[in-house]
Parts: sequence; C-alpha cells; structure tokens
Amino acid sequence: MAHTLPALSYAFDALEPHIDALTMQIHHDRHHQAYVDNLNKALAGTDGENKSLEELMANISAYPAAVRNNGGGHWNHSLFWEILGANGSQPSGPLADAINAAFGTLDALKEKMNTAGTTRFGSGWAWLIVKDGNLEVTSTPNQDNPLMDIAEVKGTPILGIDVWEHAYYLKYQNKRPDYLGAIWNVINWDVVAAKYNAAL
Ligand SMILES: [Fe+2]
Repeated sequence: MAHTLPALSYAFDALEPHIDALTMQIHHDRHHQAYVDNLNKALAGTDGENKSLEELMANISAYPAAVRNNGGGHWNHSLFWEILGANGSQPSGPLADAINAAFGTLDALKEKMNTAGTTRFGSGWAWLIVKDGNLEVTSTPNQDNPLMDIAEVKGTPILGIDVWEHAYYLKYQNKRPDYLGAIWNVINWDVVAAKYNAAL
C-alpha cells in the first residue's frame, strides 16, 4: 500500500504569528511530501511495501537508510501536524496529573523539552514519550524516533517537536530557542491527551 500525505486539519496561517504560513506550506507540501514520495520509492517491490508504518519503525534496523530516513520523516511529521493547532488549550485530566508527577509543573516540562531541542546538534526531534507507563523527555537525530528499534530511548511519542532548520528558519533564522519558546502557544493539548490515554 502506498503511503500518502495527510491533509492538515487547519489552514497554513492558523498558527500565525508563532509559526508563519509560508513555513507551514513549504514544510507540509514540499518537505513532508518528499518523505512520502521517497519512502514509497524505497519500498517499491520489497516486503516492506506490505508493512504498516509502525511495523517498519519497530524493525527499522532491517531496512535500508532510505526507509529509516523517509519512513521516520513521514511518521514524525504526521504526528507533528496533529499535535499543533491554534486552540490555546492547556493539559487537563490524567495527562496534567502525569506531567505534574513526572516534571513538577508544565513549565518544567517545557524547559526540559526546549533543552532537549536546543542541545540536539544538527537536525532532529524533541519528544515527550510514554515509557513503561511514565512520561519521559528524549530526543533523536535526523528523522529517527522513539518507536524505532535503534532508538537509544524507546517509548510511544505523544508530542514531538521538529527542530530541523526547515521548521523555523524563514521566521527565526538561527534562533532555534526562540522558535521553541513560541511553539508552546500552538500545542493542541487535547490531541496530546488523547495520545497519552491511547499509549497507556
Ligand atoms: Fe520537518
């Protein structure tokens, strides 16, 4: 089955001024589309063609680098679009309790995620994951993710922040910390909470 680019559930300019419309358009329509196209090319005619994206991630060490890079790129960006939104929500319920239990406060979680993102050299992702029922913050290089069998820290991502320059360079240039400071204004915590409940 060929993989396809998921549509955004909001307009390109919905995250303004924190993430600009042109960045969103290029990021979704060109970068993510390229991961999807290159993944389909890399899988064509192989047994991986019949595997789900999650099955590929769990056994990624058995596949060529093109599947790792583009499969990860497809999975990671699909999550990223979902957990963004303009609703200005806050964590509530069991997720809020789990954040407070693991990190003390929501601000402490944000700081830990931002540190994971700023200290990730080059390109990669900062993650909030569920691991053995608990919340943890981790990061991965390139388009790797914590679902992959080669990940240093494995778990189920419920929130991922893209720290590739293509995610912020037009508006923030080299100032990755400014982008990381702003993105918390547009996290859709209802989606993160649903992913937390599903991961438990
Ligand atoms: Fe990206």
